[in-house]
Amino acid sequence: MSRAAVLCGLGGALPTTAVSNEELAGQLDTSDQWIRTRTGIRSRHVVAPGEATSDLAVAAGADALASARRTAPVADVDLVVLATSTPDRPCPATAPDVAHRLGLGPVPAFDVAAVCTGFVYALATASSMITAGVSERALVIGADTFSTILDPVDRTTRAIFGDGAGAVVLRAGEADEPGALLGFDLGSDGSGADLITVRAGGSRQRSTGGPADAGDHFFTMDGRPVFTQAVLNMSRSSQELMERVGWTPADLDKVVAHQANIRILHAVGEQLGLEEKQIVANLDRVGNTVAASIPLALRDAAADGELLPGHRVVLTGFGGGLTWGSAALVWPDLAAG
Ligand code: ACO
Repeated sequence: MSRAAVLCGLGGALPTTAVSNEELAGQLDTSDQWIRTRTGIRSRHVVAPGEATSDLAVAAGADALASARRTAPVADVDLVVLATSTPDRPCPATAPDVAHRLGLGPVPAFDVAAVCTGFVYALATASSMITAGVSERALVIGADTFSTILDPVDRTTRAIFGDGAGAVVLRAGEADEPGALLGFDLGSDGSGADLITVRAGGSRQRSTGGPADAGDHFFTMDGRPVFTQAVLNMSRSSQELMERVGWTPADLDKVVAHQANIRILHAVGEQLGLEEKQIVANLDRVGNTVAASIPLALRDAAADGELLPGHRVVLTGFGGGLTWGSAALVWPDLAAG
């Protein structure tokens, strides 16, 4: 049997402060009714002043490592991959600091930036490094604090995004074991780079931090075309991956898609011929947590008994870049974090 990366730990972390739709409606020209019916979101969590992405990443990483140790004695990980588009600082990467604070020693640690697809890209990266024999055990974290880059008066983004971190532990194993990552489908289309963007702060338009920026340091998203592209690409990517691993839609038990909008999840489910109960959704409680979205949805679905050992699962994400990606696995017997 061939060597594969096997999921053996799962965890997550949310900031303490939850912000309800009603609270947002007190600050912005929006309503609980609009947000609930157009997105399915009821509440999201936001970091406190001074709290950073690494703080959530460390908490989620520790939770996933504890879950892995409960399932089986696990030696320390030898690789940390952190998916984030809100690093603590533009330079250096946040992953080495996270590895250091988790006490993991001098392990390789780096960030992956693919916005809402970041976790799937990071999972594919770590899985490939395990399959290639470069790593034996990897900690893969998705963490973002989009509340730190949103325009405080932009109702179109503040209603949607929340902060959080989710993490998994992968170990080297065999491709026929439950939990083995069976395949990936990844893609990008840079012609849509302006649809989901922070204009300033990079080499193209350096941020001065002054009023001349005119809000260019805030995150912006053109929701309607992103909605269409999200449905199209998550459906197509899931279908192509299933063909590659030899599954038909009838074989599939659960889809864990990026939690951006309940209408997107239902449309993807429809494209794949799934019933509503096969679509994992936790966005009502956390909103769109960007790179944390898929691992947090996994954690909640595992804790709620929605994901059961033996379930055939496809993870699928879509985000800025534009980027998309999917992964397939048979759900293992995991102790939640
Ligand atoms: N409250 C009240 N009204 C609002 C709000 C709000 N929070 N937000 C937008 N509106 C208004 C708009 O201003 C607009 O008003 P107008 O017609 O007077 O101009 C109206 O509602 C309709 O706006 P749309 O943008 O067309 O609304 P839509 O139904 O498309 O919902 C949304 C917007 C929720 C953003 C949706 O387009 C969406 O979910 N898009 C996809 C998001 C996504 O998939 N993201 C994934 C990637 S994100 C990443 O990678 C970081």
